[in-house]
Amino acid sequence: VRRLLLIGIGAGHPDHVTVQALAALDAFDVLFVVEKAAAEELVALRRRVVARHRTAGPYRTVELQDPPRPWRSAPDYRAAVARWRAQRTAQWEAALRDELADGETGAFLVWGDPSLYESTLAIAREIADRGAVPGLALEVIPGISSVQVLAARHRIPLNRVGRPVLITPARLLGDGLPDADDVVVMLDPGTAFAELDPAGLEIYWGAYLGTDDELLIAGPLAEVAEEIVATRARARAEKGWVFDVYLLRRTG
Ligand SMILES: C[S@@+](CC[C@H](N)C(=O)[O-])C[C@H]1O[C@@H](n2cnc3c(N)ncnc32)[C@H](O)[C@@H]1O
Repeated sequence: VRRLLLIGIGAGHPDHVTVQALAALDAFDVLFVVEKAAAEELVALRRRVVARHRTAGPYRTVELQDPPRPWRSAPDYRAAVARWRAQRTAQWEAALRDELADGETGAFLVWGDPSLYESTLAIAREIADRGAVPGLALEVIPGISSVQVLAARHRIPLNRVGRPVLITPARLLGDGLPDADDVVVMLDPGTAFAELDPAGLEIYWGAYLGTDDELLIAGPLAEVAEEIVATRARARAEKGWVFDVYLLRRTG
C-alpha cells in the first residue's frame, strides 16, 4: 500500500493544526510540494508548520512544477483548461508512481481545509480512481478553513437561526449578490463588494487571517466599503499580495 495524506494545515496560524494533522505531519516519508507562482511568504508559512510540529526524522521532498495556467483570453479557454488539468494530473500521477515506494506514506499540505476551493483533493481522487498508481490509499485530514477563522475573529456565527449560508468565488458576484441572506466570498482578486448596492448589507472582512498581519473590518457596507478598499490597497502595496475573505450579510 502507498498511503497518501492530504493534510489540512489551517489558513495561516500555526496553532490551527488539529491533533490528527499533528500525527499526520509525523507520519509521512515523502512530502509533495506544488511549486506555483505563490507568494514566497505563503510557501514559508507552510514550511513553518512542518518545522514547528514535526518530531519524526528526515523526509524526502518531491517538487511538482505546476504547468502555467492558461489565460482567460486564450482561444478556446475551456479546452485549454482541460488540457492544463490533464497535464497536472499526469505529472502528479507519474511522481506518485515513481517517488512513493510500496509501504511508504506521502503527503500534500493543503491550505485551510482540503474541501474548500482546492484542486489538490480533486486531482488526488482522480489519480486514486484511475488505479494507475498501484495500492494508492488516499486519506484526507480536515483543516481549519479561512472561513472558520473569519467567523471566529469577528465573533459571529456564519448562519442565522435555521437559515442557509452560501460560499462563492467573487467572480460570481458580477451579476449581483446571490439570493441568500449570508454569503461568504472567497478568491476575490479585487474588491467585488464595492460594486454591489450596499443598501441593507453588512460586511465582515478579514485579510491575512491567523497571521501577524491580520486585518479585520466590519460594519454596514455603505459605511466601511471605502475603508476596506483603502486598507486592502495599502496592505497589497506593502506586502505585494493579499488574501482576504468576507461575509456579506443581508440585514433586517
Ligand atoms: C485557493 S482558496 C483556498 C481556501 C482554503 N482551502 C481554506 O480552507 O481557506 C484561497 C482563498 O481562501 C481565502 N483565504 C485563505 N487563507 C486566508 C487567510 N489567511 N486570510 C484570508 N483569506 C484567506 C482567500 O479568499 C483566498 O483567495
